[in-house]
Amino acid sequence: MALRNIRIIGDECLTKTCKEVKEMTPRLKELVEDMFDTMYEADGVGLAAPQVGILKRIVVIDTTGEDPYVLINPRIVETSGEQTGQEGCLSVPGKCGIVTRPDYVKAIAYDIDMKPYTLEGTELLARAICHELEHLDGKLYVEKAEGGLMDAGTVQEQEEE
Ligand code: NI
Repeated sequence: MALRNIRIIGDECLTKTCKEVKEMTPRLKELVEDMFDTMYEADGVGLAAPQVGILKRIVVIDTTGEDPYVLINPRIVETSGEQTGQEGCLSVPGKCGIVTRPDYVKAIAYDIDMKPYTLEGTELLARAICHELEHLDGKLYVEKAEGGLMDAGTVQEQEEE
């Protein structure tokens, strides 16, 4: 298990457009493993390569702890519906915001063996796909947060009341 340093908002890696992966290499496989380790260690549900300083179009997502997906060169091909809810990002620690996203997303991507596949998601998975793919184009959810950012702890306390 190898953890990578998560880049924090303000780091220029988070503002760049990432490059397509042309072929899978042992080095990139190691990167993907490290991204999963880093995401799970940080209790995240998704992580994009630029968040660990690698400007390539690679995303890992696991919204349940049991459904790990790696998306290489992913593209959203269909969306529908709408959901408005709380969103956070490992690169913006301690904060969250309210963001409206599609409620259904269909994406195409390559897997770890560079085989194309389709990933469909609703609710949290749809939100995670949208959020992570935006990282590949240098965008953070903070630009979309309605009413700005809130302290993550504060919102949690309110929900528990
Ligand atoms: Ni993020």
